[in-house]
Amino acid sequence: MKPLIAPSILAADFANLEREIKMINESEADWIHVDIMDGVFVPNISMGVPVVEAMNRHAKKPMDVHLMIVNPEKYVEAFHKAGAAVISVHIEACPHLHRNIQQIKALGIKAGVAVNPHTSIELLKDSISDIDLVCLMSVNPGFGGQKFIENTYQKVKELRQLINQRQSSALIEIDGGVNENNAKPLLEAGAKVLVAGNFVFSSANPKEVIKSLKALA
Ligand code: DX5
Ligand code: ZN
Repeated sequence: MKPLIAPSILAADFANLEREIKMINESEADWIHVDIMDGVFVPNISMGVPVVEAMNRHAKKPMDVHLMIVNPEKYVEAFHKAGAAVISVHIEACPHLHRNIQQIKALGIKAGVAVNPHTSIELLKDSISDIDLVCLMSVNPGFGGQKFIENTYQKVKELRQLINQRQSSALIEIDGGVNENNAKPLLEAGAKVLVAGNFVFSSANPKEVIKSLKALA
């Protein structure tokens, strides 16, 4: 089965967001990955609801909104209104994860749970049947262009096993440092959605890079 490709807008030219979104529209990408950072959960600030709303006016592909923020429950509805089709919250930021997942699902959109590199897959055991997407961080969240953490392969395998055991329909998404070297083995290990920021936007031909990722598996 073909992977889903989600270019990360964090690596795009923010002064030309309309042009960048149009490039994604014309490409073989499936989703647009949107990184929201609050300067508290992660040591960086990116963009907020009005920017997502503006992008939504041009986007023809579903927006996959990755909330790297504390108290995500305060903003889920606003991001939904701004056009998010998928919203992921971080397990490390959610002491009441079950409630967060239900809140997102009640809006009729996909609920994702993002997991930092140090966080054990075991912690997803009791919620995996309710989750639509697990966003496995393959870098420490906060910045684009970081080096892929090799231990991710092991985590993908563990997570694939858990998903199969519990007959969950959760998709495994990989976020951080995805490139031509790790994309194929990640898909072979059981990943389904590949986020790619710098690999796509730093290339001379982003559409071709998206196409090459889409052609894997
Ligand atoms: C990291 C973000 C990623 C990032 C990926 O905090 O969650 O989505 O944009 O960018 P690359 O592919 O450049 O690592
Ligand atoms: Zn992300």
